[in-house]
Amino acid sequence: MGTAMNFIELTKNDLIGVNSIDEQHQSMAVLVNKLYDKIISPDKKIIQNYLYKLLEVVEVHFENEENLMRSTKFPGYISHKLEHDRFYKQMLTSTDRYSKGLETIGLEQLKGIKLWFFNHIELSDKKCGKYFIANGIS
Ligand SMILES: [Fe+2]
Ligand SMILES: [Fe+2]
Repeated sequence: MGTAMNFIELTKNDLIGVNSIDEQHQSMAVLVNKLYDKIISPDKKIIQNYLYKLLEVVEVHFENEENLMRSTKFPGYISHKLEHDRFYKQMLTSTDRYSKGLETIGLEQLKGIKLWFFNHIELSDKKCGKYFIANGIS
């Protein structure tokens, strides 16, 4: 009997406390889970669509956090943005290479995304989240 287990499952402990950020994290998790479910699918187009959709969601999300960091003058802005930029660039490169048939996307890549995602929430997003809340953002 199979209990449906998501590849990425966000729990209460992963919440930042700022609604827009938590909702976007959830959307990212949903997309990575869809990718995970299709990872062995021979239909390259589906995977490619999810990858580009994920890039889009990631971009909008990073912009949201960065805008909040700038408007509240968050002191850790530069290093946090650098983490975003590195991740985005890496995702963009892999997605483009996948689309051109130069790279495959497998479980290893998805595990890498998952690891980055949880580390980044725990070590970076929670820090700026606390700061946003202290600055009246919810
Ligand atoms: Fe972030
Ligand atoms: Fe985030």
